[in-house]
This record gives sequence, C-alpha cells and structure tokens, in this order.
Amino acid sequence: MLDHIRQSLDTVAAKHRTRVLRPAHLLPGGRLVRDGRELLDFASNDYLGLALHPLLAERSCHYAREYGAGAGASRLITGTMPQHEAVEAKVAAFKGSEAALLFASGWQANAALIPALAKAAPATAIFADELVHNSIHAGCRAARATTHFFRHNDCDHLAQLLAEHGGTADARLIVTESVFSMDGDRADLTRLNALAATHDALLYVDEAHATGVFGPRGAGLSAEHPGNALVMGTFSKALGGFGAYLACPALVRDYMVNMCAGLIFSTAPPPAVLGAMDAALELVPQMDAQRAHLAALGERLRQGLAALGFDTLASSTQIVPLVLGPEQAALAMGEHLLAAGLAALPIRPPTVPNGTSRVRIALRATHSADDVERLLEAVGSWQR
Ligand SMILES: Cc1ncc(COP(=O)(O)O)c(C=O)c1O
Repeated sequence: MLDHIRQSLDTVAAKHRTRVLRPAHLLPGGRLVRDGRELLDFASNDYLGLALHPLLAERSCHYAREYGAGAGASRLITGTMPQHEAVEAKVAAFKGSEAALLFASGWQANAALIPALAKAAPATAIFADELVHNSIHAGCRAARATTHFFRHNDCDHLAQLLAEHGGTADARLIVTESVFSMDGDRADLTRLNALAATHDALLYVDEAHATGVFGPRGAGLSAEHPGNALVMGTFSKALGGFGAYLACPALVRDYMVNMCAGLIFSTAPPPAVLGAMDAALELVPQMDAQRAHLAALGERLRQGLAALGFDTLASSTQIVPLVLGPEQAALAMGEHLLAAGLAALPIRPPTVPNGTSRVRIALRATHSADDVERLLEAVGSWQR
C-alpha cells in the first residue's frame, strides 16, 4: 500500500502538481500573514470580513464557556442542544424556508445529502452541472444513482438530458451551484426552476459562494427565485465561520433526520461553532453597504482586467477568474503577484478543465478600491 501511495505522489510531482500546506492567518483589511510576510489577500473566501469580526469571536467564546467544547454526541443521541435548534430557526427565517438543518461542513453536507436524497426512490436520476464542486461529485458517486452531467450553465443541454433520461427514472434531482466557485458566474435559477417543474424534478442548489453576498439581506440567489428548491450553503465563506446548512421543507428535514447517514452518524456541531453562526446570522442581513462595495470592486476588477486583455469568463460576482490557459502561465502569474505582495491562488487541472488554468481572485468587502488598483497594476506589469 505504501509503495502505491509513494507512486501516486511521484506521479503528481512529475506533473508539477504537488500541493503543500502553508500556515497563514488572516489580518484585518483583507490581508494575511504567511511565511512571516504580510500579503494583500485575494485568496481567502471571507467575503464580508466576518472571520475577524469581534461579535463572532465573542459569541463563540461565550457559547464555549457556557455550553462546553463539544456537543457530546450525534444529533439523534444527545447532541441536539437548544442552540442548534435556535440557529436552525434563524437559518430558516433568513432563507425563507420552512425548516433548516445544520451540517459539519459544506463538503460533508453535499457528500451526505445527495446520496440520502437519491435513496428516497428506487431509481433516481441525477442531472448535475459539469462544474459543480468536488463535494457534489462525491455525493453523486456515493449515491450510486445514474448521474448525467450537463454542459456548464447550458439549460438547453439539461432539457435535452431530462427529456432523454428523465422519463425512465422514478425521481429526478437537478444539482447546481448558484455562484460557481471557480468561474464566479451564476446559474440561471429562473430557467432551472422552470425545468424542474416541467420535468417533475427536485432542484438542489449549493449557495456556498452566494450566501451573505447576494439576494435580499444576503439570503442568497435562491431567495430571489421562489420555487421548491432545496438549498444548501456554508457558514465558512461570507459568514466567516464554519459549518453548513440545508434550508428545506419540514418534510425533507424529517427525512434527513431519519435517513441521512452523514447527519445521523456524526457528532453535532460544537457550541463555539454555533456561537459564530448565530452572530453571523445577526450581522449579515444588515450588510447591504458591504455587499454593494463588493459588487463595485468586482465590476472595476473585471473592467481593468479586460482592458489589460485578460479573459474573466462569465464572472459577475466577487470571484474573478484571471484565465491564463497553460498551467505554467497560471503558476508564473501566481508567483509574480506574490513577489508584488499579493496572494491569489493559481488553480490548475484537475480542479478546472484542461487549458483553463487561472489565478482565482476572491474579492472581499474589506478590500479598498486602492487594493484593486494595486492588483491591476501588478497584473499589468506581468510579462507573458
Ligand atoms: C460550491 C462549494 N460547495 C461546498 C464547499 C465546501 O464547503 P466547506 O468549505 O464548508 O466544506 C465549497 C468550498 O470550497 C464550495 O466551493
């Protein structure tokens, strides 16, 4: 086994794709410290700057002091504290759903929820956007249901796949992200809701990158598109903390409590995490000014990059891909930005399709307009 492990790592190394962990910590103002150096940070997903907000840290400490370090058991044993139910009620009010359920992380939620949904019917067919997150792929594989991937954001292709393969299944599940993590573009939720209705399918929307940033009071893009979608999202990005939620009808919550292995067999989220969730849910609805600032930074960045001749795909959000094509170019741009004191992550296959290696720029409401100008200047001084 260890020989195979070594060989796998050698193969990755031969492709110059070895990944390493590098300790860093966030600083106020969209900065971070890594290797003893302060960098302007365009790599983290703390879109509203809440990870360092005193209210989240204080409530986290308060919950830990009052209720302890751990929940002690899974939700169905003794792990459901009144604070879990209070946060779930807050999530449901925020998202406008009948009910909500907390999960340990976004990855775990997708990987656990999709198989649980699929097993509700003897033969479920899943229809997923080809660019969905790794956790959704993991969920689809674990579901052992037939999964049909439609071309990214191509609802005509989805309609065709539903017509071809939907009829023979007992149930149909359409899966998408509302804001795509690597391209920074948005799903057409109006059309997806309509297709779900036409084909008697259930729509499942991952709002990891939209929660807190889009929609009324930051409630996500799904909140602007009434329908019957199941919506999951995370507390780990704009909400500054950790963990995930499912916003859903009470029927689906009851079903998950009985059938979702990832919930049933996992210890409940601990009090400190719940404290940060609770504080974030209090702050986020009031952050329209920060959301507007973030949107303006995105507009300026895309316009500046286009003027420099760079492709940013169909980005219309705080996530802006600076597409360079070859892997080596994305790595070189990452190094160039780092030399200028800027952290932005080069993203290469297999995370993104071949030939679309890029530097993923994640903007934050704590960045200033000058920070974006500094980024543009650094990108502009890169010699291809
Ligand atoms: C679209 C999407 N879903 C789910 C996740 C996983 O969320 P978490 O980091 O909370 O595990 C991510 C995180 O990268 C993501 O981008």
